[in-house]
Amino acid sequence: MLPAKNPSKLSAWQELLTTHTSIKDQSIRSLFDKDQHRVETFSAHTDQIYLDYSKNLVSAEVMEALLKLVDEAGLKDAIRAMQSADRINERENRAVMHYALRKSSGSIELEGTDLMELVHTELAKIERISSKIHQGEWLGHTGKPIRNIVNIGIGGSDLGPYMVCNALRPYWSSIKPYFLSNIDAAQWEEIKEEIDAEETLFIIASKTFTTDETMTNARTARQWFIDEIGTTDALAKHFLAVSTNLKETAAFGIPDENIVGFWDWVGGRFSLWSSIGLSIACTVGYDRFKELLAGAEKMDTHLFEADFDQNLPVIMALLSIWNVNFCGCKSHAILPYDHRLKDFPRFLQQMIMESNGKQVDRSGNRVDYPTCPIYFGEPGTNGQHAFYQLLHQGTDAVPADFIVFAKPAHAHDEHHTKLIANCFAQSEALMDGSPNDDPFRNFEGNRPSNTLVIDELNPENLGALIALYEHQVFVQGVLWNIFSFDQWGVELGKVLAKKIVSGKEESSNPSTRSLLQKVKDLQ
Ligand code: F6P
Repeated sequence: MLPAKNPSKLSAWQELLTTHTSIKDQSIRSLFDKDQHRVETFSAHTDQIYLDYSKNLVSAEVMEALLKLVDEAGLKDAIRAMQSADRINERENRAVMHYALRKSSGSIELEGTDLMELVHTELAKIERISSKIHQGEWLGHTGKPIRNIVNIGIGGSDLGPYMVCNALRPYWSSIKPYFLSNIDAAQWEEIKEEIDAEETLFIIASKTFTTDETMTNARTARQWFIDEIGTTDALAKHFLAVSTNLKETAAFGIPDENIVGFWDWVGGRFSLWSSIGLSIACTVGYDRFKELLAGAEKMDTHLFEADFDQNLPVIMALLSIWNVNFCGCKSHAILPYDHRLKDFPRFLQQMIMESNGKQVDRSGNRVDYPTCPIYFGEPGTNGQHAFYQLLHQGTDAVPADFIVFAKPAHAHDEHHTKLIANCFAQSEALMDGSPNDDPFRNFEGNRPSNTLVIDELNPENLGALIALYEHQVFVQGVLWNIFSFDQWGVELGKVLAKKIVSGKEESSNPSTRSLLQKVKDLQ
């Protein structure tokens, strides 16, 4: 059980309100003028990630009060509860154990079962299957090696593997991954154009194996495959399933040896480390997949062992609480200055907003403070020529995370020099601003940001980066006193869509009725 404490009633919260009153009229720039060593004070690092958070409106006093908040909210106990497999996902009565998926040694007991044994058995399966595919030894029905994999899944069963595969593009070999997620068959039509059934393996990835989009897409792909090959006998060599629901995978006709499992203690949006990551292992190879897990494990150890004032996920969570609850920020930009991370912002949108987009606290009461801001982003420099206008001159300050890698994976030095220059220029411009008598050209500045600097974008560093945000989500949830690991908010829309599709009863909503009629008329 997580401690349930209304943060706004804690004494540290009250202290933060007072501290905010005394700092709010100062600019971040003026804090730099007062303290030449500000960067040293307001930065922290692991072996892989350096975080400069000096460009936030924080002082030693603010950080002290935030760290006090962490103590009063019981973060230590919450971390211990997660580590010991307590059912901290209380509303679904489940433990939250994605960190077990990347733990390389030791054991974790959950009701008499050693989770690590389960994890390693499934990892061995992932290794067996992915190595065969990756090395061209998995032959299709007509004897040709597999060249394309199509991951059919949505949400956590799509976004994580999709983002990671694209981020690790320099590590691809002969396998090309495709991702089919949308119920809009336009996506399938695009993929179908590019693949040859004889050389394609479909991975149906769904924790529940009941998600309508995934099952509809899987049926469409299966029918297309049968039509192309001319026999259902070929299915066993071309269809795999990844799921926790072995009853449904069997009902779909996937043979046992083609199923890789995982468990209810892995949340969908935290599942890329499980067999949901099979498409990653097939694309970049099992060894690279293990490096990804190793990077995440390092971040887990950091969360568990580093002092909170040096603890990256804790610091980032605290800064977001400060910006949201005290400085009044309502959104947060994720700005990776690396094109390979172009899908990182939308991956984080699910991870963070599906987790912490909650209005009810752990006791079931409406919270009396804002929780999760809106996360959005684009890779630099594309975002600069799109929405940065608002970041610089909009009415609201939007805190931002700049993410940059020192070494590129290409030899175009001029491009990389300019990329890094743009990244640092933007965070400087956001903070410093530039006064101008012409109000249209005036930059107020004082816009907060974090900058994460990483050596290079390799599997291990990527694993650490993803785990950093996972733990930030967890810490935010503890501090906001909300349950981060359920997602009841996605249910209502699903139910209504089903009702509309069935056509059994008319919608009670006049607008919906009229819209449906409009579409019918146009059809
Ligand atoms: O609709 C939300 C959701 O339940 C996500 O949490 C999950 O990642 C996604 O749907 C897909 O679910 P599944 O893996 O069970 O198909």
